[in-house]
Amino acid sequence: MALFAERNQRIGSENAFKVGPHIIHVAQTRGPVVKLNLGEPDYDLPRAVNTEIKRQLDAGNTHYCDPQGTPNLRSTISEYVNHTRGLNTTPGNVVIFPGGKPSIGLTQQIYCNPGDEVIYPSPGFPIYESFIRYVQAVPVPLHLDESAGFTFTPEQLAELITPRTKIIYLNFPSNPTGGVASQSQIEEIADVILRKAPPDVRVYSDEIYERIVFDDQQHYSILQVPGMAERTILASGFSKTFAWTGGRIGYAVLPTVVEAEMFKTLNINYFSCVAPYNQEAAVVALTDATVDAEVLEMVRTFEERRDAVLEDLRAIPGVDCQKPGGAFYLFPNIEGVCESLGLIDHHSNLNDEAKKETSPAGLFQMFALYDHQVAVLDRLSFGRIGAEGKHFLRLSTASELGVLRDGVQCLRNASQDQAGLKKFLKERPDLNL
Ligand SMILES: Cc1ncc(COP(=O)(O)O)c(C=O)c1O
Repeated sequence: MALFAERNQRIGSENAFKVGPHIIHVAQTRGPVVKLNLGEPDYDLPRAVNTEIKRQLDAGNTHYCDPQGTPNLRSTISEYVNHTRGLNTTPGNVVIFPGGKPSIGLTQQIYCNPGDEVIYPSPGFPIYESFIRYVQAVPVPLHLDESAGFTFTPEQLAELITPRTKIIYLNFPSNPTGGVASQSQIEEIADVILRKAPPDVRVYSDEIYERIVFDDQQHYSILQVPGMAERTILASGFSKTFAWTGGRIGYAVLPTVVEAEMFKTLNINYFSCVAPYNQEAAVVALTDATVDAEVLEMVRTFEERRDAVLEDLRAIPGVDCQKPGGAFYLFPNIEGVCESLGLIDHHSNLNDEAKKETSPAGLFQMFALYDHQVAVLDRLSFGRIGAEGKHFLRLSTASELGVLRDGVQCLRNASQDQAGLKKFLKERPDLNL
């Protein structure tokens, strides 16, 4: 009998975490690595939040609490989403999770039967795709178009919706592209959903980067379109906006209280509750004006870095890069580099097994890490299905500008190091994430 249940062969992972041991290895054997792989702001927790966590700990708020989330945090979130999106939710619609991530897979467990179809953006946050086959649902990638700023057309979505569709994931601003959909694009997407999808299809709108938008744009949520709040799960969290990835606080706002209670039941089964001292500090994050000011400052810095790094990247021969409207990532197209280094040919000559495990951009990623000491992620890390022939990297701008510029210089050096690459491919053909 096999040790592991068969379903474990059907789950994916997140390469942002898997690249860590490679970075440690390179750092120990060659020297420091410029880390542009991290999806977490390089900022400290806002001061008022930090103070509140300590105050809560000193007050002894360290015990079990409501598995759906503390009433105080749930009512604060309900008020916040009602205020920012003109909604009419109650604290009973809100569920708190340890981070933004858990509600992604729990949503599939709650709504999908085997054979149901799940539409998700690709490239996109890898956890949308990685869970689908685990719950025996069918992955239906919605490919984002580079030339349209990594959004998609209503027609593209309409073609994918079938009577088996159960969940549609949306994510603006997007990881990994930084793409932001305009209000009119969101309205067109909503129109397709309202016309083509039955009312029990759930849209999961991942708005975790909602406050990190640039160029004086306003975040526009699909829940603001009349008729959409009744069928949309609004997901967000505290990791990105408040530079609080270690706090593990995220939330979902469900269209009905009955649905929120289904999530609560899974919470009870999986983790009982989320640390109450952090939940109370999350209330401060959403209500304290000094926190708002610190967030704005961080967003301004991300925007400045975007502009500077974009210019540096576009100056590398063989690299093109769209200007992201939000989040803290750049997603350059490196097809020209892959071509000039011969990586596309090299990849197409690999055996089927090896070919599946990597991509031309993935080979470049490992070469850049091992020989030029810069860590980035490749396109394959953001959705595997249909990623063939797409040659992108994701760089995070969550480092000081000087560090970012050094990192881009390392990428430039790697892009021109034909001899080094040849040696690398000969010596380390086994290197994959
Ligand atoms: C789009 C998106 N959703 C959800 C998450 C998960 O966030 P958390 O760290 O709060 O679990 C991330 C993290 O990178 C993300 O990029």
